[in-house]
Amino acid sequence: MKKFSKIIIANWKMQMDSEESIALAVKLVKLLAKNNIGKKEIVVCPSFLALSEVAKILKPSRISLGAQDTFYQEEGAFTGEVSPENLKEIGCQYVIVGHSERRAMGETDKLINKKFLAVLKEKMLPIICVGETLAERKSGQSEKVILRQINKATLGISKNQNFILAYEPVWSISTSNSGQVISVLEASKMISLIKINLSKKFTNFSLIYGGSVDKKSIVNFAKIKGVKGFLVGGASLKAKSFVELIKNL
Ligand code: 13P
Repeated sequence: MKKFSKIIIANWKMQMDSEESIALAVKLVKLLAKNNIGKKEIVVCPSFLALSEVAKILKPSRISLGAQDTFYQEEGAFTGEVSPENLKEIGCQYVIVGHSERRAMGETDKLINKKFLAVLKEKMLPIICVGETLAERKSGQSEKVILRQINKATLGISKNQNFILAYEPVWSISTSNSGQVISVLEASKMISLIKINLSKKFTNFSLIYGGSVDKKSIVNFAKIKGVKGFLVGGASLKAKSFVELIKNL
């Protein structure tokens, strides 16, 4: 498994068709080759449909490939699903699991745990997402919700297992235009709670933050103690400003 000082993961969500994804991947590879970004690990997570074409473009570059989701079975009659084995075969090294946008579509803690285990079985690095909604935060449930999500997602995971955990407050995702973004102080509190909790059971995890991170805000979010990197949505969709974001970390 790769060692990295810092990691930036681009989650392209369902924002582009295959042609646009290919064009963005080509631009990113070119721009990153021209810029000195040190040893930072860069991961791009395109849609399932664009994965194999983007994989070919990234292969000779320093950018790693990730998937936005997976199913947990290896093969079988599971219409519409994609197995971790297929993702591995195509070149994925990372898989996002339990993103809040998938939880909102009905993914349960139990399903997320199965996916987590399945990704590990294929020796890819899971990026487990946790985060509270605005209603949960307003009713003082944030900590309880996060700890439940973590405890249930990590059932059966061994102590020295390598994984990434992303704290993404749901109410702070894609909200930079409305100004509803978590403060660095609030994010620090949650990250520190997560770190204390995870450290009781695990020795080999990396914590990252996600939610309205852009090339400006990353400078402040990077000050959060214990944060090893970022999961970036909207601000990863334009090659030039994404590379500036990477340089600002
Ligand atoms: P934004 O950066 O667009 O807020 O998205 C964050 C996210 O959900 C990354 O997974």
